[in-house]
Amino acid sequence: MTQTMSSPLLLLLLSTVITVTAAAATSAYPSVTTDCTVSPADNELVPVRREVYGGGRIFDISHRYTVDMPLFWSPNGLGHMIDRYFDAGFDVDTLDLEVLNGPALLVDVPRDSNITAQVMESLKIPKGVRRVLFRTLNTDRRLMYKSEYDTSYVGFTTDGARWLVKNTDIKLVGLDFLSVASDDHLLSAHLEFFESREIILVEGLKLEDVPVGMYNVHCLPLRLVGAEGSPIRCILIK
Ligand SMILES: *[C@@H]1O[C@H](CO)[C@@H](O)[C@H](O)[C@H]1NC(C)=O
Repeated sequence: MTQTMSSPLLLLLLSTVITVTAAAATSAYPSVTTDCTVSPADNELVPVRREVYGGGRIFDISHRYTVDMPLFWSPNGLGHMIDRYFDAGFDVDTLDLEVLNGPALLVDVPRDSNITAQVMESLKIPKGVRRVLFRTLNTDRRLMYKSEYDTSYVGFTTDGARWLVKNTDIKLVGLDFLSVASDDHLLSAHLEFFESREIILVEGLKLEDVPVGMYNVHCLPLRLVGAEGSPIRCILIK
């Protein structure tokens, strides 16, 4: 876990956790099709996997955990991003559930750029909006469905992160790839977000096929004491 670049306030799909989860699921749960003896009448017993529930009212914006999902890759093997927070005991169990649950805006980011200050300004996100999910080119490129970690993903640049912190009331930042900061600004953009200790980053969201607009977001991280990131289930409710 320490090989993953993260920090006390970062909700990251940790590679170690993903691997363990996926492996455990395979050995712990025998496959229904091969291990269950079903009578001919039950042959149509097929589990339904859904993205949308309640006739379009609830959208599941979490990706399935699979063995081929991309894993966060840290070029420098960085550990805790802000050691003094981690040392002080800031872990995922201390994240504010009020920030992680409530009215949220889903916006489309212009596809020809990373999320710079200029892009942030152009989005005209009103004051008072506290939770924003940014849908980017990453969704169009289906980067979360490629097992290879693609460093050309779109994310926040340092000035984009700084602009958000200074000029908006956003406390929950959601993005559609494994890092909210672009690869070129990996450390510096994360630091802009974390300096305030108020902003929670939710990464690796599944935002395709959801209309832009206002929802209620519900995100629940696991109560992992001492962990700087956690797998998280997020849904949007109209
Ligand atoms: C975003 O930045 C990355 C480098 O961090 C770059 O590879 C990519 O081309 C940029 N994307 C866009 C759309 O500008």
